[in-house]
Amino acid sequence: MHGVNLDQLGRRDPTHYGGLTLTELELRIADDAAALDLSTRFFHSNHEGDFVEHLHGLDGLADGIVLNPGAWTHYAWAIRDALELTGLPAMEVHLSDIEAREEWRRVSVIREVCIGHVAGRGADGYRDALTRLREELAR
Ligand code: DQA
Repeated sequence: MHGVNLDQLGRRDPTHYGGLTLTELELRIADDAAALDLSTRFFHSNHEGDFVEHLHGLDGLADGIVLNPGAWTHYAWAIRDALELTGLPAMEVHLSDIEAREEWRRVSVIREVCIGHVAGRGADGYRDALTRLREELAR
């Protein structure tokens, strides 16, 4: 699940976010998932309520979640609550190293309801997250 502004990848600062568009990133993630024997569904929204409602509807549709909520990560408590409500194992991913950037990006309100997080690994971070999720699902 991709959050706010991630549809603008390809136009955003490549030093933080790399050069892939969201479509290219999704193709890469789908390939990495297939290599791990996982199937993927993607969702993007720039609207917090739509993102929350998508989480509400995941019951029975997914075994786990990989999400990069973009800037919502840092303050959107409604997303944190909706994520917890899914009861699904979730991995938090950020393309950039949020710990090494501005102070406000160092806070993640979703981290406590995720089984792990990856940041600063670019597109490879999604593969790391899928690998970790797969381990969790095999337990
Ligand atoms: C991001 C980091 C956030 O701080 C930022 O607002 C984003 C993208 C990342 O992938 O590095 O939109 O989540």
